Amino acid sequence: MSNPTLPQPEPTPGNTAWWTHDRFGLFIHWGIYALAARHEWVKKYEQISDADYQPYFDHFDPDLYDPAEWARIAREAGMRYVVLTSKHHDGFCLWDSQLTDYRATNTPAGRDLLRPFVEAFRAEGLKVGFYYSLIDWHHPEFPVDGVHPQANDLAFREATKDRDVRKYAEYLHGQVREILTMFGTIDLLWLDFSYSQQDYGWSKGKGKDDWQSEKLIEMVREINPDIIINNRSEIEQDFHTPEQFIPPSWLHIDGKPVNWESCQTLNGSWGYHRDNLDWKSPQLLVEMLIDCVSKGGNMLMNVGPTGRGEFDPRAQATLAEIGGWMRQHGRAIYGCTQAPYTPPRDCRYTYNPETNRLYLHVFAWPLKYLHLPGLRNRVRYAQLLNDGSGVKTFDFTQHHRYPSGGEDLLTLELPIQKPDVHTPVVELFLCE
Ligand code: GLC
Repeated sequence: MSNPTLPQPEPTPGNTAWWTHDRFGLFIHWGIYALAARHEWVKKYEQISDADYQPYFDHFDPDLYDPAEWARIAREAGMRYVVLTSKHHDGFCLWDSQLTDYRATNTPAGRDLLRPFVEAFRAEGLKVGFYYSLIDWHHPEFPVDGVHPQANDLAFREATKDRDVRKYAEYLHGQVREILTMFGTIDLLWLDFSYSQQDYGWSKGKGKDDWQSEKLIEMVREINPDIIINNRSEIEQDFHTPEQFIPPSWLHIDGKPVNWESCQTLNGSWGYHRDNLDWKSPQLLVEMLIDCVSKGGNMLMNVGPTGRGEFDPRAQATLAEIGGWMRQHGRAIYGCTQAPYTPPRDCRYTYNPETNRLYLHVFAWPLKYLHLPGLRNRVRYAQLLNDGSGVKTFDFTQHHRYPSGGEDLLTLELPIQKPDVHTPVVELFLCE
């Protein structure tokens, strides 16, 4: 059905134009937790002390790290931007931070890992973003709270009770300044995360007052007014980040449509997880990407590289499959958004307002006919996108008594065999 009131987010402080166009990004969680190889929260989950976590720092030697290879894989998968964890909750820093010793240069890696990363991804034409953890389980002034790995260690809590979050905030501001000034213009900042509503009894969660988010954002905008920033510092900025779920329709906050990006894992873990078997199929991931774009959103798909610095073979195989689909169907994703029509059952629409083309993504291949409500006399030409083969369109009711789906149905005649692609797409050239 024609829907003239498509959601339209209000303008935000940063420049989201490239981001809403590009739609598909690569998230990378990489740090010394890759050596533990059992989730990036391992330090918390297993209540590991600094001393017991230290071996991962002492043995971090990513000798196979080749960011040019990462960037090539990402581009071939159809991704247009990348977000890498410069620091995760464990506090380990991938760059040569002057504000801490807890950094890659002091591990056997012995070098700054961010600079070659930024250069490699830029060379492949991707926009570059940094994830930065607001939480820090290593910093000596980060007050112990309910999510801290030592939360249950009463002696530790007692010994650290004088920690001053203001001193930590100073450090965090200094580090964000570093990552945004040391490597040229950074396009996106992904802060993670706030939990001020949490009350553990003996401690409270942390949020914008602890991080001094207003001041932080002000500083970031001063460095780069166009940068786009997510919402997790507890201050609304350019986009929202539903994590491992896709909203049922265009995401609304306080009744208003917003820019949104669903971040997704390949297997439930962000960091490298050797023994995890929960791998999503490429088919499912393609459908998830389509689903996001059909609701006006982006998808940020994660890979957790190994301790030696490679994407493991399972991730590589998945990305290659998605890339195969993107190569043929990219124009149903880039520059597309929610369509002003309601798709038939088991299908999604994406729509490119510039070219006025509507893309019908068929999740369950039907028998021969597919009936599209509201599209009679609105389509000039239809073709399968994978091979550019024409698809016949007609008014079904001229030939059959059924269906009784309304006067405005347009019917497509599809081949009996599903095209050999993850999700077939019919490109519909709409009338002016
Ligand atoms: C989280 C987790 C985390 C992951 C992330 C991605 O809140 O703490 O480990 O980095 O979000 O969205």
